[in-house]
Amino acid sequence: MTRRRRPFSLTCATDGGWAAQWPILTGVTSPLRLVLLASGTGSLAQELIDAAGRGVVAATVVAVGADRDAAALAMASRAGIATFTVRPTDFPDRGLWDRALAAAVAVFSPDLVVSAGFMRVLGPAFLDRYEGRILNTHPALLPAFPGAHAVRDALAAGVTETGCSIHWVDAGVDTGPVIDQRRVTIVPGEGESQLHERIKVAERAMLVETVARLASGVLTVPDRPGS
Ligand code: GRF
Repeated sequence: MTRRRRPFSLTCATDGGWAAQWPILTGVTSPLRLVLLASGTGSLAQELIDAAGRGVVAATVVAVGADRDAAALAMASRAGIATFTVRPTDFPDRGLWDRALAAAVAVFSPDLVVSAGFMRVLGPAFLDRYEGRILNTHPALLPAFPGAHAVRDALAAGVTETGCSIHWVDAGVDTGPVIDQRRVTIVPGEGESQLHERIKVAERAMLVETVARLASGVLTVPDRPGS
């Protein structure tokens, strides 16, 4: 298939502030070139790979990267997708790791980077290159329960409802503008892993739908929460 460059613009439903700060996805390719980052089993990444393979999403997963020996890499290899690993322990400091990760991703010239269960905060070098083109999924209704233990924290707080969010990545921890959320009712007595698995069902669908909306060229970027 011949890839073509196409003008690609998204509507920013704000007073213009976000439009200036988030000039997202201009000049991208069709189908969208996706690099996925994962640290775990990769069920979110798998869902996106499958959706792209079925043509449900006009995107091509060009690589899957990880910060460790994640099962997601083996899954991607089985699907014939390039993989790379950039381990923080291989670098003397976090800044060098961040630069190496940005360079590893750049090899694949992505239109969009998707943090799909990637358990690291992306640093300044990565954001300099890709901010406005990085999505993250999170297993809570942001701004509630940011961070690495969102499901556990929701259970500990005794809430009756939680869910998942997909958002643009900025320099904070799960603080970027939220694009979409799905609600999940907590079943009394259920444990963290059981609840997390139910959240991930919603999370996978939300991720695929969001990337499909981006790939089809229409997405309204919401206001930053609280602005
Ligand atoms: C997801 O809930 C994601 O939001 C969180 O880790 C989980 C990844 O699941 N950060 P998987 O490895 O894709 O199954």
